[in-house]
Amino acid sequence: MREQATDRKVQYVLDIPFKRTTCRVCGMAYSSQVRADAEVHRKYHTQFTNGVTWPQSLNLDPLSSFAIVRREKSKQLGKLKSSTVSKRVKVHIQTIDKQNKRHIDKVNQILQMVNRELNATDDSKEWMSSKFKFSKAFVVLVEGKAIGLCTTDSINEAKWMVYNTQVIVPNQVMKNIRIGISRIWISADWRQHGLAKKLLDCVMANSVYGQILRKSQIAFSQPSYGGGLLAKAFNGVIHKSGETLIPVYFEK
Ligand SMILES: CC(C)(COP(=O)(O)OP(=O)(O)OC[C@H]1O[C@@H](n2cnc3c(N)ncnc32)[C@H](O)[C@@H]1OP(=O)(O)O)[C@@H](O)C(=O)NCCC(=O)NCCS
Ligand SMILES: [Zn+2]
Repeated sequence: MREQATDRKVQYVLDIPFKRTTCRVCGMAYSSQVRADAEVHRKYHTQFTNGVTWPQSLNLDPLSSFAIVRREKSKQLGKLKSSTVSKRVKVHIQTIDKQNKRHIDKVNQILQMVNRELNATDDSKEWMSSKFKFSKAFVVLVEGKAIGLCTTDSINEAKWMVYNTQVIVPNQVMKNIRIGISRIWISADWRQHGLAKKLLDCVMANSVYGQILRKSQIAFSQPSYGGGLLAKAFNGVIHKSGETLIPVYFEK
């Protein structure tokens, strides 16, 4: 009898279906009724939209510093009226020290989120290897947070991809390519402020010592929807067929 009761209890616990919701912004699936789960989501969501804490002790001399005007929605008078306010913020872009474990850990932490959003597998990790001196990680910093990241690969050739169909153009290899964009990411609330383009400018100016690369020497790894738009705007070319082509490569 007792055993049966216990059995039933176990059964009961397993049967409760906790409804899982998928956040439309950060894409995380979680059960809002489970407190620990909701808390994990809240933390992840904040990092996804606002960036990851970047302690001052990790700051190096910036490669580029500039100001942008950020548009954000502000709720006024309770829920009655929402308007857009503009705020001027200082932005720094820096690279990381491959010998500094805390730098490596931080970038890996951001990459986890990036790979999750892109549904991508692990990246090549050339950015952390001293064997590849031109492969780097660039971070975008605002007010103590890393709000953007770009990791690069050392490559020497690429292929054309038709932007609209994602088909790779056969039998054509581009030589003289120097840098591959392995991952590029801007946190959700900071998108469409020109920051990815600023990151790419930094990549061109600071990858190969003493040389400023041309846009045509950069290719993209597995461009996502947003990545495709960025690549198209950055170094896409219009083929005589009318199709836009973007330079891509396959990560090892
Ligand atoms: C792709 C991503 C990095 C773009 O960052 P961003 O800072 O918003 O891009 P920018 O503001 O610098 O825009 C650069 C260009 O790309 C275009 N673009 C980028 N994202 C776009 C979008 N969602 N819709 C329309 N255009 C977009 C812009 O029009 C702009 O071109 P323009 O200067 O000719 O107008 C960002 O959306 C992101 O992190 N997405 C998720 C991760 C991802 O997809 N990474 C790419 C992997 S290949
Ligand atoms: Zn979320």
